[in-house]
Amino acid sequence: MMDLIHLHCLAGQTVFLPFPLSHLLLCLSFEWVSEAQGDLEMKAGAVGSSVLLPAPDNITNMSFMQWEYRNASMSEYILQYYVQSSSTTVYPSYHDRVDFYPANGSLLLKKLREIDSGVYKATVNLIESGAKETFLEIFKPVSQPQLWSNSNLAGTTVALFCEVSEGRVDKIDWEKEGEPLPLERCYLLSENRSVLYIRRAEKPECGSFSCNVSNKVSWKESSLDLTLTSVSPLSGHALRMAAVALTFALVSGLGFIILLCQSEKRRLEVEAWRWVIVFIQGLVCVSAFLLFGATVLWMQEQGASAALILLDIFLTSVIIVTILVSATLALRPAKLSEFKTKKWQCIFLDFAAPGGVVVIVLFASYLMQNILDLSGEMKPHSDCIVSLLAK
Ligand SMILES: *[C@@H]1O[C@H](CO)[C@@H](O)[C@H](O)[C@H]1NC(C)=O
Ligand SMILES: *[C@@H]1O[C@H](CO)[C@@H](O)[C@H](O)[C@H]1NC(C)=O
Ligand SMILES: *[C@@H]1O[C@H](CO)[C@@H](O)[C@H](O)[C@H]1NC(C)=O
Ligand SMILES: *[C@@H]1O[C@H](CO)[C@@H](O)[C@H](O)[C@H]1NC(C)=O
Ligand SMILES: *[C@@H]1O[C@H](CO)[C@@H](O)[C@H](O)[C@H]1NC(C)=O
Ligand SMILES: *[C@@H]1O[C@H](CO)[C@@H](O)[C@H](O)[C@H]1NC(C)=O
Repeated sequence: MMDLIHLHCLAGQTVFLPFPLSHLLLCLSFEWVSEAQGDLEMKAGAVGSSVLLPAPDNITNMSFMQWEYRNASMSEYILQYYVQSSSTTVYPSYHDRVDFYPANGSLLLKKLREIDSGVYKATVNLIESGAKETFLEIFKPVSQPQLWSNSNLAGTTVALFCEVSEGRVDKIDWEKEGEPLPLERCYLLSENRSVLYIRRAEKPECGSFSCNVSNKVSWKESSLDLTLTSVSPLSGHALRMAAVALTFALVSGLGFIILLCQSEKRRLEVEAWRWVIVFIQGLVCVSAFLLFGATVLWMQEQGASAALILLDIFLTSVIIVTILVSATLALRPAKLSEFKTKKWQCIFLDFAAPGGVVVIVLFASYLMQNILDLSGEMKPHSDCIVSLLAK
């Protein structure tokens, strides 16, 4: 994964470099970089790794060799080597950090740190004109990018974010299904290429996207399987809640009908009859509660409407009455008759639950129909495909 860039630029001459402009400027404008007359080699290394710095090509008749380091603010010796005595002197700040090869004069710099960026100069027999300089840049390797999408709702603009927590990023390449992105108007990249916008994402946009972040010393790739749904998460919850409310309401409606038929023919035992009613009332209460939740979610997405608010007020009263009736019936059945002293109370308590069932069935169906209609509207766009063909 690590690769070193070897580029030659002759100091003092203007040459074209396939390098970012900043490096070219660094190469040409900093006096400390272009001090020597010889070649200046550019190298890049990753933090923690090692890099081999070459000596001048011609070391015949070498009797003395010297390695130096310098950057914008300082310069220092690294080591000196006398051929005759075969003695190598390594300066303190480079102990344990360099390997010197007398045979060819190369220097292996180990355990690289970011502050090791700078110019490394090798001189043979103190002849400045033959010195070899290497400009070394140390980079942190990029960390594994996090690739995520802000939404997966079909028909909207989906943004894919490729975020890297560590390491300077020089380049971000995007791919879909392992191929470069097709150049069409549906794909848009942010200026720094870290965000990919997919306009009006539709079914053809589903699939595997990957971003490859790299700098001179490393690259890392992450992929994301983009799946699109035609219902927003909120509407999806509302749909499911309305469906469960509808099911519960239908079951309790069936319960009421069975109860009615039973009372005509063979009456259930009083005790069993009581618990069946408690159960049915409880079921109506739960389904009213679910539909209430579904309408709240729906109104968050689509805005409030008078009809839904009226419905919610009605549902609230159904919830209160069913809780009251089932709790009284379960705990103090005798008390129930006390509530029914007036005729309107009698009617209200007896008809709240069955009336609630009818209203819940109607409105749950209506709400589900609305949600499904809305998601259906988003499906048939095919601008992306058309624009592709037109190109
Ligand atoms: C110098 O010698 C060392 C050890 O033999 C070797 O690893 C290195 O590649 C050589 N350097 C060059 C520039 O050939
Ligand atoms: C190497 O350097 C010596 C002087 O140190 C010179 O005589 C010789 O021609 C040079 N060889 C090459 C190939 O440059
Ligand atoms: C290089 O060394 C050889 C043998 O020691 C000697 O004959 C020659 O003159 C030297 N060349 C230079 C340019 O110093
Ligand atoms: C120069 O190198 C020294 C030692 O590595 C370092 O402390 C300093 O920050 C460097 N200065 C610049 C400008 O890079
Ligand atoms: C890239 O640009 C996006 C928005 O244009 C921004 O949110 C993000 O922070 C930028 N990333 C980098 C690494 O500059
Ligand atoms: C990622 O990008 C780097 C640098 O451009 C490249 O060397 C590498 O092969 C790419 N990786 C993949 C899997 O395409």
